[in-house]
Amino acid sequence: MLTDLLLAIAHHLLIFILFAILAVELVWLKRDITRDGLRRLAKVDMAYGIVAGLIVIIGVSRVFFGLKGYEYYVESHSFWAKMVAFLIVGLLSIKPTLAILAWNRRAAREPGFLPSAAEISGVRRYLHIEATIFLLIPIFAAAMARGY
Ligand code: HEM
Repeated sequence: MLTDLLLAIAHHLLIFILFAILAVELVWLKRDITRDGLRRLAKVDMAYGIVAGLIVIIGVSRVFFGLKGYEYYVESHSFWAKMVAFLIVGLLSIKPTLAILAWNRRAAREPGFLPSAAEISGVRRYLHIEATIFLLIPIFAAAMARGY
């Protein structure tokens, strides 16, 4: 019972943190980004990866150590819909991560380098789609928790 409660609390807090990080990335990644801004973006993007990894660990722990037992989730369509949505969000985050790392590597080699407006808006499009698909996850989660 206590394990279930603690896992649920950790799950919810990490989810809010992940969404907040996504919002921060969208606020920081603008055409007027500076060299320092690029460095900060790389740090926050690394935090995004760590938090997403923790969500997977806590989420999977909820499946196996939660009150309902894993059989409940394995047979739930909304659980699998939620997993697919989370996987899509994860796949969509690859391109921004690679771009941010490449920009920082290039800026370290070439003083004065900053990504072009087109490159920035390309990556922002990925972040927007990620944030939109992310919103489907709590919808599937609520359905899953109630046996739909
Ligand atoms: C591998 C990733 C994940 C796994 C395995 C997982 C698994 C779970 C499990 C087992 C529950 C308990 C449901 C119940 O009470 O029966 C849960 C609840 C929940 N999850 Fe996840 N989760 C994952 C990722 C996420 C993400 C990324 C979000 C982002 C929004 C999320 C949002 C929620 C919410 C809002 C609930 C509470 C649902 C409710 O009680 O109404 N989960 N999750």
